[in-house]
Amino acid sequence: MAAEPVRIAVIGAGRMGQVHIAALGRSRGARAVAVVEPVAAVRDAVGASGLAAYATVEELLTAGGFDGVLIAAPTDRHASLVTTLAAAGVSILCEKPCGTSTEEATAAARAVEAAGTLLQVGYWRRFVPELAALRERVARGELGEITLVASHQWDERPPGAEFRAHSGGIAVDMGVHEFDQVRWLLGQEFEKVAAMPAGAPGGAAGRADPDSAVVLARLSGGTAASITLGRHFGEQDSCWFEAFGRDGYERCAFMWGADGEQAFLAALAAQADAFADAVRGGPPTGAGVADAVAALATAGRVAEALEHAAEA
Ligand SMILES: NC(=O)c1ccc[n+]([C@@H]2O[C@H](COP(=O)([O-])OP(=O)(O)OC[C@H]3O[C@@H](n4cnc5c(N)ncnc54)[C@H](O)[C@@H]3O)[C@@H](O)[C@H]2O)c1
Repeated sequence: MAAEPVRIAVIGAGRMGQVHIAALGRSRGARAVAVVEPVAAVRDAVGASGLAAYATVEELLTAGGFDGVLIAAPTDRHASLVTTLAAAGVSILCEKPCGTSTEEATAAARAVEAAGTLLQVGYWRRFVPELAALRERVARGELGEITLVASHQWDERPPGAEFRAHSGGIAVDMGVHEFDQVRWLLGQEFEKVAAMPAGAPGGAAGRADPDSAVVLARLSGGTAASITLGRHFGEQDSCWFEAFGRDGYERCAFMWGADGEQAFLAALAAQADAFADAVRGGPPTGAGVADAVAALATAGRVAEALEHAAEA
C-alpha cells in the first residue's frame, strides 16, 4: 500500500509560497496542509482554499498536525525560522538561499546539527531532468574536458521594492541559483570571481543590487564560468545553461517560454517528493545546508565585486 503523503506546513504564503502550494498539489509524496502567514488578508485568502492558517510559527507548533515545513518567508527570516523550527524537532525544506550570508546559513546549520533534524535547501534546478542528465554526461566524460560553462537567469521584470529590501541583492537572490547549479553540475568549487553591474543601479540593497550583472569565475578544476543575471527580459522568466567541452557542446534551455512555468512546477514537485522521502527516513538527495553555505560564500564575494565595480 502507498504511504500517506507527508503533510507540509508552508511558512510564508507570498509569491513563492503560493507557487509551492500549487506544486505540492502535483507531488506524489507530499501535500500542503497548513500555512503560516502574518499578513491577515493573504492568510485568509490561502486559508479559504482549505488549508489550516496560522499567523505565527508558535501557533503552528501548538496546533501540530504536520510532518515537515517548507519555508518560503523572506530571505532575511530564513535563519531565525530554521533555528526555531529545528529546536522544535521539525524537518525543514527551506527556500534558497537559507539566509542572506554565510554567517546566517552557518547559524542555521548549527541549529539543525544540535537538534538532529533534517534541513534540505530549495535549489530546485537539481530536480530538472535535463540538468540531471547533463550532470551524468559530464561525470562520464562524454563532453570531454569542460573548458567553459555559461549560465543565464533572466526575469521578465524586477521584483517589488519590499521584496528587494529583504533579498540580500542580486548575487544572493539570483546568483546563488547559478553558483549552486555550477558546483553541482561540474563538481568544482568557485575560486576566482569578478563581477560587473549592467545598466542603472537597481534596488534597496544599493550597489550590490543592480538590475543586471555579469559574473566571471575560475573554478577549481580549471573550467571558466560566465554567469549573466538580469531583471528586464523580453521573454518570460528564463534560465538556460551551456557547457563547452573539448568533445561536445550542450545547451539546456530548461526554463524557457510558455513551457517554462510547467518545468518549474514539475521540478518543485520532484523536490518536494525528495524531501518527503527524506522525512520518511530515506537518504537526503537535495541540496544540504553545506551547499547553501558554499553558494552564499560565492554570493558574498560577487556582491563585494559588484560594489567595487560600481565605485570605480
Ligand atoms: N527557488 C526559487 O526559484 C525562488 C523564486 C522566488 C522566491 N524564492 C525565495 O522564496 C522566498 C520568498 O520569496 P517570495 O517571492 O515569495 O517573497 P514574498 O515577499 O512574495 O513572500 C514572503 C511571504 O512571507 C511572509 N512572511 C514574512 N515574515 C514571515 C514569518 N516570520 N513567517 C511566515 N511568513 C512570513 C510575508 O508576509 C509574505 O507573504 C525568498 O527567500 C526567495 O529567495 C525562491
